[in-house]
Amino acid sequence: MNETAKIPSNGPAEPATLARSIVLVGLMGAGKSCIGRRLAQRLDVAFVDADAEIELAAGCTIAEIFEKYGEGAFRDGERRVMSRLLQGPPTILAAGGGAFMDAETRELIREHAVSVWLRADLDTLAARTKGRGHRPLLNAGDPRETLAKLIEVRYPVYAEADITVDTGADNPNLTCVRVIEALAKIAPTFATPAP
Ligand code: S3P
Repeated sequence: MNETAKIPSNGPAEPATLARSIVLVGLMGAGKSCIGRRLAQRLDVAFVDADAEIELAAGCTIAEIFEKYGEGAFRDGERRVMSRLLQGPPTILAAGGGAFMDAETRELIREHAVSVWLRADLDTLAARTKGRGHRPLLNAGDPRETLAKLIEVRYPVYAEADITVDTGADNPNLTCVRVIEALAKIAPTFATPAP
């Protein structure tokens, strides 16, 4: 891996650049967007939320895509958007919970990025997703049961990520520091917090 991770920015308006994208993976409620934003701020690099990019490309919300066209169409769109983002300039990229389950996307992530799995237990995920209606997979049936099933199916695949960081109920800043420390272990210059 190219370890020239962070090129200092020339001015306040220009964020620094990364050698590779850092892709945050994990289940709904793991804190991918929250930690991703903090990470981007600490490292002074750009943050991109894949779900928001999918909505922008589709011109409607994820819930609407599921409702009008079904999950298969959503996954096709997600694959296309992830491919575009991963082949673009490196960023801190928060992936949707299902993105890393796609073999093609996983391969692109391997090729272009460092993947970080934010691992959380069922209680944490259930608490963090409770009462929020924007995730179609959790809107039908018992969301806790759905999350439990997704843990079973997805955790062995998320475990293929380059780095695993436990999130739990910790303060997000602490999780962010843990991610930076873990990144620094695999490539010392990868994660230099902004001065
Ligand atoms: C999904 C997770 C969601 C979103 C969509 C499907 C999943 O993203 O992409 O609702 O399959 O786990 P978040 O993980 O950011 O909530």
